[in-house]
Amino acid sequence: MSETPYRPFAHVPLAVFRQMRQQDPVHFDPRMHGWAVFRYDDAQYVLSHPQLFSSEAILPGQPHLPSFLGMDDPRHRKLRNIVSQVFTPRMIEQLTPQITAVVHQLLDQVAPQGHMDVIRDFAYPLPITIIAGLLGVPAEDQDTFRSWSDSLTAANGTNDTPEARATNAQSFQDYFLQKLSERRRQPQQDLMSRLINAEVDGEKLSDEELLEFCRLLLIAGYETTANLLGNAFVCFDQYPEVAEKLRQHPEFMPGAVEEILRCFPSVAGDTRVALEDTTLGGKQIQKHQVVSVVATSANYDESQFPDPERFDIHRDPNRHLTFGYGVHFCLGAPLARLEARIGLTIALRRLQNIQRDPGQPIEPVQSPFIIGVRNFPITFTAT
Ligand code: HEM
Repeated sequence: MSETPYRPFAHVPLAVFRQMRQQDPVHFDPRMHGWAVFRYDDAQYVLSHPQLFSSEAILPGQPHLPSFLGMDDPRHRKLRNIVSQVFTPRMIEQLTPQITAVVHQLLDQVAPQGHMDVIRDFAYPLPITIIAGLLGVPAEDQDTFRSWSDSLTAANGTNDTPEARATNAQSFQDYFLQKLSERRRQPQQDLMSRLINAEVDGEKLSDEELLEFCRLLLIAGYETTANLLGNAFVCFDQYPEVAEKLRQHPEFMPGAVEEILRCFPSVAGDTRVALEDTTLGGKQIQKHQVVSVVATSANYDESQFPDPERFDIHRDPNRHLTFGYGVHFCLGAPLARLEARIGLTIALRRLQNIQRDPGQPIEPVQSPFIIGVRNFPITFTAT
């Protein structure tokens, strides 16, 4: 009996995207009352013209994005500059020992069993533990912190009622306001203490702005990184020769992480609103219309990526748009990359003979914004 080939991301319409890039690259979609942008060049154009395509203007019924992710310049630039004083690639590099320790702890817990669900046991706990550490959440509060975070970000399909989410949001706010006042009195060596004191041109962040930034770290940094880690295991399962090569040559891991980000972008696109009437790809865009950059399609644009459907960890250059582009380019990209490089290198070293459990169907994440899986059970031999 022939087995159905296993394609976890079969729902990602790569063939449709290819056709759209050729035939209707800036496409009006009446269902979303706006435009979808499929080609790389057009996507880059939208993201590098924030004066035309706003992150701040929102339409009725749309949720407001937290902190400066949902702002335009000059406020965006001011807040981002203050945060960038402390959220630097150098500060992130210094998290290496902490990330390494958390990865080992997580693997220690599953190693004796010889099996785990990658998503439940590894991909979600790693980024949330690192974010909790950045925010100075002590070990005894981490479980509570994680349950608020899951609820706030609706992570991995958590289906809390709106009331439960509101209560959790309030508890999160009370907890961090309390932490903020503690740190104002007694600064620590953590990100939050440094954010309290960071200033640009004499301006500091208010409590409200600090709190919003904590929310932004969760919303931008948790599920995104978790799905990157999960998608990496999906790739290793699909391309076992790549996993083997990376075991022998961990120095290829940075290239592999970029290729996973390109092919299976955990953030599938970015949304903007036109601030004035303009043209894009020969189409007339009207003021207040939504313009969605389809990063997944741009990442497969053959004018930018030769043989785009080939999974190639040596692809160079690999200027995918998964971390966005321009003024809102992901501030956490160095952290996501570091967690993935460390986490995946150690996992491949410690877990040999990784096999997906064929008895359990894999459920894709049901969201137009995220590419990922909700479960990924594997067996392995721990070394
Ligand atoms: C912004 C993707 C991880 C913090 C963004 C944007 C994208 C993105 C696409 C820009 C959105 C837009 O232009 O509208 C990702 C992906 C990640 C990831 C794919 C993991 C694989 C992280 C992490 C953090 C983080 C770990 C921090 C803990 C931020 C922040 C912004 C941002 C603060 C706002 C930047 C701004 O508006 O100027 N991210 N992100 N991200 N990300 Fe990430």
